[in-house]
Amino acid sequence: MSLWSKHAIFEKHSLVLTVGILIVVAIGGLVEIGPLFYLKSTIETVDGVRPYTPLELAGRNIYIREGCYLCHSQMIRSLRDEVERYGHYSLAAESKYDHPFQWGSKRTGPDLARIGGKYSDDWQRGHLNNPRSVVPGSVMPRYGFLESAPLDYAHIQEDMKVLQIEGVPYTDEMIAKAKDDLKVQLNAEDGATADLAKRYPKVAAHASNGAAGPTEQDALVAYLQMLGTTVDFSQFNDKANWR
Ligand code: HEC
Repeated sequence: MSLWSKHAIFEKHSLVLTVGILIVVAIGGLVEIGPLFYLKSTIETVDGVRPYTPLELAGRNIYIREGCYLCHSQMIRSLRDEVERYGHYSLAAESKYDHPFQWGSKRTGPDLARIGGKYSDDWQRGHLNNPRSVVPGSVMPRYGFLESAPLDYAHIQEDMKVLQIEGVPYTDEMIAKAKDDLKVQLNAEDGATADLAKRYPKVAAHASNGAAGPTEQDALVAYLQMLGTTVDFSQFNDKANWR
């Protein structure tokens, strides 16, 4: 019996065939995916990328809770029309502290990877309350309830601890000061964010619109306003990579 005739075992038994397929696919997977975990170049180091401040992280949690990712991507591809519309294409390093990442897979609305700083805080608030008030033809739902919803940040330190386990470089000091940092980033007097900026470079202060403390809208706006703002793209002059 030649070696090839043994192949009949696979052809006659569907279970053996299935197991055989799984083994072959697993080997292919290991060969392709395995090395990525050991290559330093898989995620390039990029100056400026930093973990989210507690306020931004709380805003990100609301972004996920409200399902904004169902209509918005955060992933600019290296296609000319995208780069001309949204800015420099997304770098892997920019979402390395995102667990889970927010690349999304659908754009009912525009990409938000570089939305930070594109509009004022007031515009963002007005747009969230009623998108039609600033973009007449918009089909985005209203999120007005966020404006009066008090921000629940009781568990923000636990959130940061979990991210720390997942590899986000939150220090114990950052976690210990999280609740204070969250309040400082809102309503900070000019310059009062200096201490915060030591832990979170390029942090921007925002005014709270909640009379009784931070609102969910405050956190979401702080998150939106920092997206895509940490990396200085003047150091990347690589138009040759556009397609
Ligand atoms: C049903 C789909 C849908 C959902 C869900 C949605 N949006 Fe939008 N969004 C849109 C559309 C469409 C636009 C473009 C029109 C406009 O500016 O309102 C848009 C625009 C935006 C813009 C302005 C982008 C720009 O570059 O001008 C921001 C910021 C934004 N959305 C944030 C959010 C946030 C935050 C959430 C979750 C709280 C959210 N969106 C949920 C559809 C959606």
